Amino acid sequence: MIIPVNVHSSQFPEQVGRELAESLRTREINHKFHYESRRQAQQWLELHRRYSPSRNDLESRAGYEQAFIKIATLATSPAVHVIGLGCGAGLKDFMLLQQLRKRGKMLVYSACDASLPLVLTARQRALTLLDERHVHDLVADFVTADDLQRIFITQTTGNSTRIINFLGMIPNFEPAQILPRLASLIRAQDILVFSANLAPGDDYRAGVEKVLPQYDNAETRAWLMSLLIDLGFDAKDGRLRFEIEENANETGLIRVVARFDLKRDRVIHLDEEKFTFREGDSLRVFYSYRHTPDTVRAWLGKEGIDVLEQTVSCEGQEGLFICRRKAAETAS
Ligand SMILES: C[S@@+](CC[C@H](N)C(=O)[O-])C[C@H]1O[C@@H](n2cnc3c(N)ncnc32)[C@H](O)[C@@H]1O
Repeated sequence: MIIPVNVHSSQFPEQVGRELAESLRTREINHKFHYESRRQAQQWLELHRRYSPSRNDLESRAGYEQAFIKIATLATSPAVHVIGLGCGAGLKDFMLLQQLRKRGKMLVYSACDASLPLVLTARQRALTLLDERHVHDLVADFVTADDLQRIFITQTTGNSTRIINFLGMIPNFEPAQILPRLASLIRAQDILVFSANLAPGDDYRAGVEKVLPQYDNAETRAWLMSLLIDLGFDAKDGRLRFEIEENANETGLIRVVARFDLKRDRVIHLDEEKFTFREGDSLRVFYSYRHTPDTVRAWLGKEGIDVLEQTVSCEGQEGLFICRRKAAETAS
């Protein structure tokens, strides 16, 4: 079987090559490079299966189920367009599509992610419920593609309610960079479904310490090392170290960071360029901001987005927020 796949210019090889070079130059890896290959996508899905509360915790799954039922009741129009921004394997988008279908909605689904294997997985899953005409795939970089709104609008039919899922995305982006971008895609009547990994408990730092083992484990290490090995590092070149960073980039937020500390020199060749790493250098490979319900509301509020409802599950580790643009900000 052959299927055409839509690839946005933001994921064309020259652009992606420049971004990879930038990651090596700045010694800060862009997270999208951890999902590119089939093997990386597979490794990430495995560790997600093992460590994600939404996959393992019955209460968390039930939280998603309940929230999706609620969202299905908020969508009053007969037709609904669900957009999975950073859809991953599309599992949660699919749960929402199922609830909407139970209510007899006519559905269109757009699976958008930087990873080709994950977009294809989300697409295949959606096709078990919808027919091909109603499933759109888009391999795109959500940060740099500046015409996504135009593309999604062409996919929305008639007076559909638009539901934008931004699930599990916020931890791996600088909030000041990503949230204005996200907000620019939310129109007056759209529903935004936003999830964040939270720091459980009343003590923010202690909460992040509690979840550290969800990151510092063999599966996550293997997943993160895949990219480095692929780039030409040897596992013995250094050590992957996880740490907790407070007030990262003056956000007031706490995050878990993984760094590869070099124990010996290594030169990485990328196309025509050479990147020299010296013993003692450190490459930031990954970070994950942990939020609290208050920090989520505050950051979304700054962008003119109101939280209508929130569900916190899995002993305070997972937050799901149903949002709309603030009434005064509804320009479009
Ligand atoms: C932690 S996963 C979340 C996946 C899914 N939404 C879920 O909740 O299971 C992050 C996803 O964001 C995608 N991603 C990372 N950076 C991206 C970017 N700049 N543009 C588009 N997708 C990106 C990755 O490919 C990955 O599928």
